[in-house]
Amino acid sequence: MALKSFVFMVVSLVITIKTFHVSTLGACPKCGNMEVPYPFSTDDTCGDSRYKLYCNNNGVLEFQSAEGFSYKVLSIDLAAQKLIIKPPDLVQDDDMCRTTDFSSEGLRLDENLPFNVSTRNTVILLNCSDNLLRSPLNCSSNSLCRVFEGKMLEGRNNACKSRLCCHYLKDSHMTSYMIRVRVGGCTAYTSVVDIQPQDPADKWNYGIELQWMPPN
Ligand SMILES: *[C@@H]1O[C@H](CO)[C@@H](O)[C@H](O)[C@H]1NC(C)=O
Ligand SMILES: *[C@@H]1O[C@H](CO)[C@@H](O)[C@H](O)[C@H]1NC(C)=O
Ligand SMILES: *[C@@H]1O[C@H](CO)[C@@H](O)[C@H](O)[C@H]1NC(C)=O
Repeated sequence: MALKSFVFMVVSLVITIKTFHVSTLGACPKCGNMEVPYPFSTDDTCGDSRYKLYCNNNGVLEFQSAEGFSYKVLSIDLAAQKLIIKPPDLVQDDDMCRTTDFSSEGLRLDENLPFNVSTRNTVILLNCSDNLLRSPLNCSSNSLCRVFEGKMLEGRNNACKSRLCCHYLKDSHMTSYMIRVRVGGCTAYTSVVDIQPQDPADKWNYGIELQWMPPN
């Protein structure tokens, strides 16, 4: 009898602990060298599933766009509720000026998720069509895209050079859910967080800063 009730107690204790664990999921384990703080979730045993990140097989933490394109997470600032993802690479092809996310038309965030593009990003657009001249973007000969082109495309990505290019600050007048590239617009881009125009382009902080709304 005593043994029976002891077993029962142990079993119910285990069940209680399990239930408790499921209802208050903790932080996920590290991904490679990166901490994955709460509310981020790399699988359904930890974090909050609306804040999905992916830990790929190489231990690289990634964020996925609405189209499922993956961007490496460079840093997470928990206090500021901001993370920085790596802008897509330029396709290494002398006949093509495209970013690797061109087929998903650049970066688009799922508007139902608690992320948006912060207002500290300066977006540099390459190989733009003349239509862009009628936009409020800065496509002048002293646009920051020319500084980028001069320093960062040196000796490569010839297809992106000497074409119309533009830059803009992703401020509150813009949609905060996408950075778009397409034929008839611009076909490649990069982004710089908190740009310091007086610094040389190889010292800029290349990244796309996203903001998240905390879970309530
Ligand atoms: C540049 O953009 C135009 C139209 O937007 C596109 O047709 C062309 O293929 C692009 N150039 C390169 C080199 O990718
Ligand atoms: C375009 O950007 C450059 C560099 O920031 C700036 O000097 C210039 O005044 C801007 N031009 C326009 C038309 O806004
Ligand atoms: C982006 O998200 C932040 C944090 O939730 C919010 O404060 C801000 O208003 C949002 N910006 C836009 C343009 O929706």
